[in-house]
Amino acid sequence: MAKKADAKTATPKNSQKITTSSTAEYFSKNLQQVGFSSQTKAVLTTLKEAVDNALDACEESGILPEVAIWVDKVGTGSLKNSDQIKIRVEDNGPGIDPDDVPKVFGEYLASSKFGRGRCSRGQQGIGISAATTWAQLTSATGARVITKTKNMRKAQECVVEVDIKNNRGVVKDKQSVEWEAKHGAPHGTSVEFLIDGRIQLNGEAGLLSYLTGTSLVNPHLTMHYTLPPTGDEKPKAITIERVTKEVPSIPEATEPHPHTMKLGEFIAHSHLFGRVTVGAWLKKGFSRVNEGTIKELIGAGIKRAVFERSVDSAQEGDFKDIYVALQNLQLMAPSTKSVLSIGEDSLSKSIKRLGSIDFFAVVTRKPTICDFKPVQVEVAMARLEDRSIEADASVQVLRFANRVPLQFDKAACAMVQAINSVNWRAYGLVQPKDSLPQGPYILAVSVVSPFIKFKNASKETVDASDELVEEIRRALIQGGQRLSKHIRRESKADELEEKLKHIEQFCPILVDGLCRITEASPARKKKAEEGLVKLLGRDARATEQELKEAHQILEAQVAKTAGADGPSELDADAELPSSDEPRKKAKAEKATKATKATKAGKAGKTGKSGKKETAAAIA
Ligand SMILES: Nc1ncnc2c1ncn2[C@@H]1O[C@H](COP(=O)(O)OP(=O)(O)OP(=O)(O)O)[C@@H](O)[C@H]1O
Ligand SMILES: [Mg+2]
Repeated sequence: MAKKADAKTATPKNSQKITTSSTAEYFSKNLQQVGFSSQTKAVLTTLKEAVDNALDACEESGILPEVAIWVDKVGTGSLKNSDQIKIRVEDNGPGIDPDDVPKVFGEYLASSKFGRGRCSRGQQGIGISAATTWAQLTSATGARVITKTKNMRKAQECVVEVDIKNNRGVVKDKQSVEWEAKHGAPHGTSVEFLIDGRIQLNGEAGLLSYLTGTSLVNPHLTMHYTLPPTGDEKPKAITIERVTKEVPSIPEATEPHPHTMKLGEFIAHSHLFGRVTVGAWLKKGFSRVNEGTIKELIGAGIKRAVFERSVDSAQEGDFKDIYVALQNLQLMAPSTKSVLSIGEDSLSKSIKRLGSIDFFAVVTRKPTICDFKPVQVEVAMARLEDRSIEADASVQVLRFANRVPLQFDKAACAMVQAINSVNWRAYGLVQPKDSLPQGPYILAVSVVSPFIKFKNASKETVDASDELVEEIRRALIQGGQRLSKHIRRESKADELEEKLKHIEQFCPILVDGLCRITEASPARKKKAEEGLVKLLGRDARATEQELKEAHQILEAQVAKTAGADGPSELDADAELPSSDEPRKKAKAEKATKATKATKAGKAGKTGKSGKKETAAAIA
C-alpha cells in the first residue's frame, strides 16, 4: 500500500532527470581502468603512453626512432603519500600538425590507428588523453606540448587540457618557439606531464624493466633516459644505442574476421563505414568475406534485399540473422600478411644487451592463425652468467604485446600460462609443479597481432585462449630444446674433464710405482711420463672425435627433416641457434690454447681455468 501511495504522490519535479556523460567524463572517473590505478602505475603508464606514441609515429613515417626520456621527482604531490613527478618524452618523429594537437592530447577516442588492423602499439585513442586527464586532476595542469613538422619553420608550444564535460581538447598559452631537440632531430614532438605519483625504478613493475624491455623488442630504437638517482649523485643520462638500422616495414592492414566478433561488436562495426549497403559493408569491413560469401548467406536463407539496404536502415534482427549465418559458414582463415615481427637476427643482437649472458636462443615462429586472428610469436631465452641469483628464484619473465612490455597481472596472461605448461625439467631446468621454472634465466615472449585480445582496457594481460597458449608453448618448447642441447654439451664436457682429472691424478703415481718395482732408469721413467701425457691427449681427441661424429649424424638427420613445422626435437635442432656460433669459436680458440698448454707440460694443473679449456676442446 505504502508503495502505491509513494508512486501516486511522485511529481515530475521529483523524477530523475536522464543525463548523458561524455566519453571524457567516463574515463576521468575510471582512470584506474586505463592504467592509473596506483601511484607507481600512474608514472609508468604516462611514460609508456608517450613512448608508445613516439615509436608508432616514427614507424609510420619510416624514421629510425631516437627517443629521449626524463623522469624526475620535483616536489610533493597533492595526493596522500605522493610525489610530484615530471615526465618528458621527446621524439624525432614527424611531429603533429598544430590543428591536431588538441585532439591528440585532449580528446578521447581520437586516433589515427583505431580499427586499422595493424600491429601498432596504440589502438584505441585513449592513452595520451588519459595521461593529460591525470595531470589535470592531480596537478591542475595539462600536457605541455612542443611540436614541429617538416613544413613548419618554427615549433609550436602550448598546454593542452581536456574539457571533460565535452570531450574536447583546449589549447592554452600557445606560442611559436625555436625547435631545440636534444639530439638534433629536424622535427618531432616533445610532451611533458606534471603528475602525482611515485617512482619505482626496480622490480618487474619498475621503470628500468620497462625501459630495457622496450629496447629489447625495438632493436632499431636509440633511447636516452635520465632517471632520478637513488643516492646523492646527480641524475645521469643513459643511452641505449640501437643494434639495427632497419626500420620495421609496416605490413598491409587486415580487416577483422567475422568469426572473431560477438554480436554487439558486429553491429557496432557496421557504423564505422558510413552510409554503405549491408553487402558493401560486409565485403569491405571483414577479412575473407566476398561476393561468394554473400551468395552463400542468401543460400542460407537471408533475403537478397537485406544486402542492398543501407547499414543505417538495417534492423537489429537483420544483423542478428546475418551474424548467425556467418558463424555457421566455413570461411577461410584470415591472411597472416599483416603481422610484423621483430626478427630473429635483430632479437639475437638485442638480447645480448640484457647483461652478461653465456647462452641464448631465439625462436621466431611463422605467422599463424589463433582464434581467427593472425598472430606471430617470438621467444628469446638467455642464461645469465651471474649465478649469484638465488637458485630457487623463478626465471625472469619479460612479456611483450605488439612490442610493448607488459608489467602487471602476469598470472592470468597467455604467455605465463604457456611457460607454466611446458615441462622445463625435460630441458634441464628446475621447475616446481605448474609454475615458472627457476634459475638464472630470462624468458622473453613476444606476441604480435593486429587484433591482440587484452583482458582489460589498460592492456596489461593478453587473454589466454587455448590456441594462443598452444602457439606460445610451441615456441618455448623449441627454445627449451636448444637450451637442453647446450646443457647436455656442457655436461659432456664436464664428464670428460672429470675423467682427465682422474688420469692426471693417478697415472703419475702408477708410473712412479711401476718404475720402482722394475727398477727402471730415470730416462725410462721420463719416457713413460711423456707417453702418459700423449695418451691423455689421445684420449681427449678420441672423445672429441666421438662427439664430432654424433653431431654429424644429428645434422644429417636434421637436413632430412628440415622444413617440417612443430615442436619435434629434430625440428628444434633444424633451427640450430646461430647464438652458439660465437661461443663455439671462443671455445675452439681456447681448445687450441689448451692443447698448446698440454704440450708445454702443463697438463697436471687443472684448476677452474683448466676445466674451461677442456670444455672448449669438446665444443
Ligand atoms: N608523438 C607523436 N607524434 C606523432 N603523432 C602522435 C604522437 N602522439 C600521438 N600522435 C597521434 O595522436 C593519436 C592519438 O594518440 P593516443 O595515444 O591517444 O591514441 P593511440 O595511440 O591511437 O591509441 P592508444 O589509446 O591505444 O594509445 C595517435 O593515433 C597519433 O596519430
Ligand atoms: Mg597511444
